[in-house]
Amino acid sequence: MAEKLRVLATRALPPAVTDRLSRDYRASLNPADRVLGPDEIVAAAEDCFAIICIAGDRFDRALIERLPASVKLLATFSVGYEHIDLAAAKARGLQVSNTPDVLTDATADITLLCLLGAARRAWEAESLLRQGRWTGWTTTQLCGTHVGGKRLGILGMGRIGRAVAARARGFGMKIHYANRSRLTPEQEQGATYHADPEEMLPHCDFLSLNAPSTPETHHFLNAQRIALLPDGAIVVNTARGTLVDDEALIAALTSGKLAAAGLDVFEGEPQLDPRYLELPNGFLLPHIGSATVETRDAMGFICLDNLDAVAAGKPGPNVLT
Ligand code: DGY
Repeated sequence: MAEKLRVLATRALPPAVTDRLSRDYRASLNPADRVLGPDEIVAAAEDCFAIICIAGDRFDRALIERLPASVKLLATFSVGYEHIDLAAAKARGLQVSNTPDVLTDATADITLLCLLGAARRAWEAESLLRQGRWTGWTTTQLCGTHVGGKRLGILGMGRIGRAVAARARGFGMKIHYANRSRLTPEQEQGATYHADPEEMLPHCDFLSLNAPSTPETHHFLNAQRIALLPDGAIVVNTARGTLVDDEALIAALTSGKLAAAGLDVFEGEPQLDPRYLELPNGFLLPHIGSATVETRDAMGFICLDNLDAVAAGKPGPNVLT
């Protein structure tokens, strides 16, 4: 029987994924979930045919060029792949796979949680209760913003953007979207298309960022674009922190230009600008968009499906390079 191929997992994996990986491969695991530096990854990848990484691991050109020649596949446990230099991977003959589709619903659910949490002042309300400051029901206490009938602008109408739109329609919201290309009428379902994202902003009572992190989307939400939003608009970001200029967003939340923000992602996470923590109108989550047991298992199994295909000399189903 042929010896099992060796695989490095840079971070701890869900138990069901670890079991399958360990059954089918010689797995170098990281049960303590310690963040590995580039030197440690290069050393641990010796003799490995594949590496499973997460979005927090940065595979830049320098690291990719140092990987042992045995490494044929880098399977990222994420749909986003901005942390991997795809051009460098291609030049090195390294296949890169990601985990699309399976996290669409979970991430769209969290987007609605952020939207509703920000609109209905959920954090302020929970804090009042937990801190023992609730003295009883009043007619005006903690009134937020109604979502039904409001306009939701979605930047990025890929799988997740469309799933957000489907959910928001259920709450009676009117959908606007900006996307590189216009959707088909079946996909659009009556949503209003804006070829120019800036043209969409004045129509957004709510704005949801669902675009990938690219040089074009870097700090998309800056002071100039916030000024285009209606006063009292609410911003939601479950995509990547790099889409937001924190300075501008914090200023707008402080001044009242924006009523609230629901944020699941932050530039430079897990560090975040400490001023966010002081803002009563920030509903903040620690990047849990895809964090359901079912979704994380499915993401891991997609990584393993790509490993299996590449190990068998077949094209990986989700290979990007
Ligand atoms: C993804 O899959 O890209 C999630 O944001 C986790 O990194």
